[in-house]
Amino acid sequence: MKKIKRIGIITAGGDSPGLNAAIRGVGKAALGSYGMEIVGFRDGFRGLAEDLRMRLDKRALAGILTIGGTILGTGRDKPHKMDVEGERRDMTNVIARNYKKHKLDALVCIGGGGTHKNALQLVQKGLNIITLPKTIDNDIAMTDASIGFDTALGIATDAVDRLHSTAHSHHRIVVAEIMGHRAGWLALGAGIAGGADVILIPEIPYDVKAVAAAIRRRSRLGTNFSIVAVAEGAMSKHDAAEFAAAERRKARAKNKRDRQRAKAELSVLYARHSGNTLRLAKQLEELTRLEARVTILGYVQRGGTPSAGDRLLATRLGTMCVELINEKVFGVMVAARGDGAKPVPISEVAGKLKQVPPDHSWIESARRVGTCLGY
Ligand code: F6P
Repeated sequence: MKKIKRIGIITAGGDSPGLNAAIRGVGKAALGSYGMEIVGFRDGFRGLAEDLRMRLDKRALAGILTIGGTILGTGRDKPHKMDVEGERRDMTNVIARNYKKHKLDALVCIGGGGTHKNALQLVQKGLNIITLPKTIDNDIAMTDASIGFDTALGIATDAVDRLHSTAHSHHRIVVAEIMGHRAGWLALGAGIAGGADVILIPEIPYDVKAVAAAIRRRSRLGTNFSIVAVAEGAMSKHDAAEFAAAERRKARAKNKRDRQRAKAELSVLYARHSGNTLRLAKQLEELTRLEARVTILGYVQRGGTPSAGDRLLATRLGTMCVELINEKVFGVMVAARGDGAKPVPISEVAGKLKQVPPDHSWIESARRVGTCLGY
C-alpha cells in the first residue's frame, strides 16, 4: 500500500484549552518524524466544505503549545446539515470531493460528542478519518480523559475557592453554575476540589427541600454561608421526571406528527431549564431565609492557557494519532487509557454519552466529606 504523504486536520465543536497543543503534536510528529505534509482546514467541517485552508508548516506550529483556543478556528456545523446561502444542505459529498482534490490520505478531526457523530458520517463515505477526544465536559465515551477538561477543572475550582471568602463575609449562599452539558464531571470535580457544600449534577436529580435542609443545618451549627456547585444540566426530581416522560413519548412516537410534537415539548422544557440556576437560588433564598447570589462561570472555563495536564494529554494523543495514521489505522478515535493511548472504533463512540456513574469514587468521596448531593 502506498505511503501516507498528506493529512488534513480540523478542530470542531466548542473550543477548549489544549487544542493548539494537539494540533502541534499531530503537526510536529507528521512533519518531523514521518515526513508527511499537513493541511489545516478552518472553522471545523465548514472549512472542508468551503475549502478554507491554512498552511501548517513548522513556522505555523511554533509557539502555539501554550495558547488557548484553536489557531484553526472551530464551529458546530454538521456536514450533512450545513447552512449554506440561506439553505440547509448536505455537504458530505462536497467534503469528500475536497478531500480527494487535496490528495489527502487521512483527516484528523479533533472534537467532542457532536464531532464524533459527524466524523462517523465521513467514515461511512469512505474517508480515512481519525479523531482525538476534546471537550471540557469530559463526557466522551470510551476514553479516560478528553483534552480541555483538566484546565476547565482548574478554572472552576479556582472560582469555587474564590467564592468562599465573599460568601463567608456576607453570610450568603452562593450558587455557582458550572458547565458540563448533560454530564456532571466538571461540577463534581470542581465542587469536591473547591470544597463546595452542595454539589448538584445531572446524574442525580435533586430535591430542593433537601438542599435547603442541608444549608439550614450548617446555619444551626454556626456556619451562615454555603457554596452550591450546580452543573448547568442539573435538574430537580420533578423536572427530570418531566424530561424523561417527554423522551419516552419521543421514543414511542409512531408517526411524524407525534415525533414532532414530542420534540417541540422537549424544546419547551430545555428553554425553561436554561433559567434553572437562577430559579434554584430564589427557591433556596425562600426556604432558608439566607440571601443567595448566582455566579455563572460560563465561557471563562473554556478560555486561556491550557494546564500542564492538558498539554501533556494533547501531545500524547496527537503524536500517537500520527503513528496510527502511518500504520494506516483509520475509523478510530485515539482514546486515553491510563498513561497510554488506544485506538477505539468511532462507531463505538458516536452517539454515546459518558456520564458520572452512580457508584463512581468521586461521588463516594463527596458523600464521605459530608457534601450534600441534593437528596
Ligand atoms: O461542550 C462544551 C460546552 O462548553 C458545554 O459545557 C456547554 O453546554 C456548551 O459547550 C456551550 O456551547 P456553545 O459554545 O455552542 O455555546
